[in-house]
Amino acid sequence: MAPSRRSFVSLSWAALARCPLPSFCLFFWMLFNLFPNAHALSPSPVDVTPPQNAHSAISAVVVQDNFLGISFELNSFDTLWGKSPQQMPIPIQNYLANLRARIHSPLRIRIGGNSMDSSTYVSNQTQMIVLTDPNAYFNDVPVDFGPTFFDVLNAMADVVGEMQFMITLSMQDPQNDTDVIDLAKAARDMLGDRLDSMLLGNEPDLYAGHGTRANYTIQDYIPEIGEVLNDLRNSQYGNLIPNTIIGGPTICCTWNLSDVLDAGLTQYPYKYYTLQHYPTHTCNGPNAKNTNITYFVSHTNVPVFAQWQSKGIQMAQSANVPVLMTEYNTVSCGGSNISDTFAAALWAVDVALGFASYGLSAAYLHTREYQVLYNLFDPATPDDSMQPGWRTGSPYYSALFLSETFPHDGAVVLDLNLDNSIYDAATTVAGYALYGQNGTVCERLVLINFGDDAGTPRSFTLPPGIAHSAGVRLLTAPSIAETMQITWAGQIVGRNGELEGTQSTQYYTRCANGCNISVPGPGVALVLLGATEGDSSFYVGNSTVAGIVGFQEGSMGVPVRSSSLPKMFGGHERACVWATAGVVVLGVLHALF
Ligand SMILES: *[C@@H]1O[C@H](CO)[C@@H](O)[C@H](O)[C@H]1NC(C)=O
Ligand SMILES: *[C@@H]1O[C@H](CO)[C@@H](O)[C@H](O)[C@H]1NC(C)=O
Ligand SMILES: *[C@@H]1O[C@H](CO)[C@@H](O)[C@H](O)[C@H]1NC(C)=O
Ligand SMILES: *[C@@H]1O[C@H](CO)[C@@H](O)[C@H](O)[C@H]1NC(C)=O
Ligand SMILES: *[C@@H]1O[C@H](CO)[C@@H](O)[C@H](O)[C@H]1NC(C)=O
Ligand SMILES: *[C@@H]1O[C@H](CO)[C@@H](O)[C@H](O)[C@H]1NC(C)=O
Ligand SMILES: *[C@@H]1O[C@H](CO)[C@@H](O)[C@H](O)[C@H]1NC(C)=O
Ligand SMILES: *[C@@H]1O[C@H](CO)[C@@H](O)[C@H](O)[C@H]1NC(C)=O
Ligand SMILES: *[C@@H]1O[C@H](CO)[C@@H](O)[C@H](O)[C@H]1NC(C)=O
Repeated sequence: MAPSRRSFVSLSWAALARCPLPSFCLFFWMLFNLFPNAHALSPSPVDVTPPQNAHSAISAVVVQDNFLGISFELNSFDTLWGKSPQQMPIPIQNYLANLRARIHSPLRIRIGGNSMDSSTYVSNQTQMIVLTDPNAYFNDVPVDFGPTFFDVLNAMADVVGEMQFMITLSMQDPQNDTDVIDLAKAARDMLGDRLDSMLLGNEPDLYAGHGTRANYTIQDYIPEIGEVLNDLRNSQYGNLIPNTIIGGPTICCTWNLSDVLDAGLTQYPYKYYTLQHYPTHTCNGPNAKNTNITYFVSHTNVPVFAQWQSKGIQMAQSANVPVLMTEYNTVSCGGSNISDTFAAALWAVDVALGFASYGLSAAYLHTREYQVLYNLFDPATPDDSMQPGWRTGSPYYSALFLSETFPHDGAVVLDLNLDNSIYDAATTVAGYALYGQNGTVCERLVLINFGDDAGTPRSFTLPPGIAHSAGVRLLTAPSIAETMQITWAGQIVGRNGELEGTQSTQYYTRCANGCNISVPGPGVALVLLGATEGDSSFYVGNSTVAGIVGFQEGSMGVPVRSSSLPKMFGGHERACVWATAGVVVLGVLHALF
């Protein structure tokens, strides 16, 4: 499919040719083209023409409404979810509930990472997590963890709503896998049906590079997987894998999925094949590449990134094994200064839809310990997660957006190549169509305006005959560099993970003969075709489950209203004023168009 290209440059060339005073017009033409922002002043409408059906989709995989999951590193898990079922911080309950309330399927949660791969399950330990190596390298912190870990997972799902959990079984020492067997036994017993999968090994393609295993290769790995599966099948507790529940290889970097499958992984019964990938890293500090905000607002980069393992994904599809991206985010090794910006939020939405359109069945946004820049949320202080005043990272807004994006009965996602955005680096838009289960009816659109234009809207033109009406919700911010004033459907996340403000949805009622959907730059719109005011197409309601009260240190269990707490979380009030100002500015801009 090649939609007609309607870039400003080609329009202005045409205008130049018709110009009565060529030199005068040439001046303006140069002005516009020398200063790319000038384009934004009168951006041309974007044609949105979804194909009749999604059968043209390269790798049509049906994705569920819980496509977007969250991935946690084990070592910091208790600082986010709490240290026991009685001490689960109110903000994390609300953060997770906001996502849970917007989907019907269980919320996907993965706990793993290098940390879980190098940690030990200690079945008689009462504390949830104990750090065992104070000098550990910060990207790989081993811990001892006990059954309280599973108690907390269950308690959270009881409060927030159903979840499906994915944990990691270590492959670092397959000769001595007694601990792996104990962990698998405990996970099965304690999580029951909530145990979605056990991923065998984490990033084995880095074992050699990290010195975990000398000269470790795919040829060493395949038979070792067989040994551990054999031990799981014939454990002292009986068969721990009677159903297909194992996932892997969870490669990130130097191996190819196709090579791992060819080398023999396909001989084992796997529930999922798993990948983890980041476009860049900051393991050696910031540099021009990992601080390049432009990369993250250039849609041409997305198909390349999303198709990182296209050959393996195709092989998996022929074998009917779903492929999941069990970790992704902007910049690995802790994020850079772009990781908490609105650009990162737009990118995380764009890439998730890219993954769906190129054959992945789920994707997990990764979050880590306090102050990692790409985190979805951070406690107010590193040592006490019970305090209110959590920081919401821009990727959390992506998760919020994506939890409303997918229809409850499944969808096939197609990159529309809007304005040739797959190929043309100068394009500042992108768009996806979501088709119902059977791929015949376009039900939803996601329209992205990457323009860093202080909210200036761009028109996306729907053709006649696609829908009589459309409901639109917007994820917006004043600029792509913004880290705080981000809103989803008019709401902003407050200091206890609660959504503040009135939920807003715009309805376009005259679309039968085509209509222009207006998307501010920067911003991304979720468009529900056929939705009308008063129907129940969009999620409506209050997803705050744990109230908006916080706990003060030293008064455990005694709720204190946030407003009565000392003003140590300064900036918040100011933030609200800015949010209001932003809405007013947007409102004015809207009135002008
Ligand atoms: C846990 O069990 C191990 C071995 O059975 C024992 O050495 C250890 O003292 C026990 N720890 C606790 C806290 O009971
Ligand atoms: C096997 O692993 C357990 C726990 O992971 C450890 O305590 C034990 O020392 C290991 N045994 C050998 C022989 O390496
Ligand atoms: C790993 O490979 C290096 C270089 O190829 C070799 O010198 C070394 O002996 C190997 N180590 C092991 C444990 O096989
Ligand atoms: C992985 O596959 C890509 C594309 O087929 C290829 O360029 C690359 O060299 C492969 N990597 C390895 C480690 O074989
Ligand atoms: C930054 O990203 C843009 C868009 O992908 C690219 O054209 C440019 O070369 C990148 N710059 C650096 C320093 O990586
Ligand atoms: C990030 O840091 C780089 C290098 O110091 C700087 O050029 C860039 O403006 C910063 N970007 C943001 C969004 O702060
Ligand atoms: C496909 O799904 C749509 C709803 O999304 C339905 O209207 C249509 O009848 C279905 N077509 C077939 C062939 O099942
Ligand atoms: C969309 O907006 C453009 C430019 O403002 C206008 O020319 C066009 O007629 C509009 N299309 C529809 C379907 O309203
Ligand atoms: C949402 O629900 C929470 C918990 O029941 C309650 O504290 C809060 O006041 C509600 N918010 C609104 C806007 O109704």
